[in-house]
Amino acid sequence: GDKVNDKLVECTDPNREYPCPPPSPVRAVDFKPEGAVRRVRQPAHLLSREYQEKYKEAIAKMKALPASHPLSFAAQAAIHQAYCDGHYRYDPTEKNRPFDVHFSWIFAPWHRMYIYFYEQALGQLIGDDTFALPYWNWDAPAGMVIPPLFRDSFANPLYDRNREQPRLDKLVDLDFLNAPDDAPLIPFNGPKDDKYEQLVTKNLCTIYQQQIRGGRGARAFLGEKLCSDTDFRLKEINERSKRRQGGQRAKRDKTKSQGSLERMAHTALHVWVGRSGPPEGKTCTADTGGVLGHDGAFNCNNDMGFLGSSGRDPLFYSHHANVDRLWHIWSTKLGGEGFKDPEWLDASFVFYDDVANPRPVRIKFRDVLDTRNLGYTYDAESEKDLPWLTCKL
Ligand code: C2O
Repeated sequence: GDKVNDKLVECTDPNREYPCPPPSPVRAVDFKPEGAVRRVRQPAHLLSREYQEKYKEAIAKMKALPASHPLSFAAQAAIHQAYCDGHYRYDPTEKNRPFDVHFSWIFAPWHRMYIYFYEQALGQLIGDDTFALPYWNWDAPAGMVIPPLFRDSFANPLYDRNREQPRLDKLVDLDFLNAPDDAPLIPFNGPKDDKYEQLVTKNLCTIYQQQIRGGRGARAFLGEKLCSDTDFRLKEINERSKRRQGGQRAKRDKTKSQGSLERMAHTALHVWVGRSGPPEGKTCTADTGGVLGHDGAFNCNNDMGFLGSSGRDPLFYSHHANVDRLWHIWSTKLGGEGFKDPEWLDASFVFYDDVANPRPVRIKFRDVLDTRNLGYTYDAESEKDLPWLTCKL
């Protein structure tokens, strides 16, 4: 919330590969709800040729802006990194704890805001205020592969080379983090055999679990309250497992404070898409972002595979458009209700809203609970026959 924002310490590291986001402006105008719904987000795999070209043109223009422009592609990626890679800290008296927009009830509204301003900027860059961010429709069988639009590596601004090549054209596993290491990769365009059908069914059940069975109530679906509550819970969990493991300190398990919207298909696909291995020309060590694995070796994940770098892959934003859509469906069609706590409703962040004349805008969580306030919606067709409304396992 405002209180949290005021305490954050800004990113100042001059040696970052990506620039720091611009410092939080002291003066920001308040967000005004949009008067009309002009943008209808569509599934990426069903876009017309014309729309595909429009999307590419917009991204190319955003990538062409100088990195110092707050709405350049580099700055957008840096914003995401700044909010999740330890660049903002709480008041040092609170042990200099890093501030993160993941692992709590901040996740859904913050990402909704972030891609809303991104989408708006893309529209401005191509002079089309009806331009809507296409979403990666991974909850429908026909969308359970990285959309072809993102895969063509020839002069395609939507392409990113830091993806895991063998998985590019394979049927996704929405429960990838729980899959055995030797689980076979299933071609998306191969025979629709038993293996294929089983994984599709399992995927639909993962979404059913995330949206319905395990997503009852705001805390279960959107995550735990940030700050002391989350920490308290973590401490409790640690204490408990410490006792169980005979005094050994358990690893902090941040997933405990995540809602099902964040913890399940969303996270699985980050890891599914991102290329594992050190940055090009470097070895994977603690200094290059490696995480020590069970085998005693360091493991590095790139772009989508690591929160700090995931905004560098254009697919990230279409991935999050679907996360956003599943929140939208939860709170409309499925009747889910958000938090009533004013600390959540009045929490606010500042984003830039105008490519020609970047202007800081303060927007609150309560402003974004209904997508119509933000001038966009999702195509009605995609909500008609949701294939995961029941689970047949
Ligand atoms: Cu900010 Cu999918 O993460």
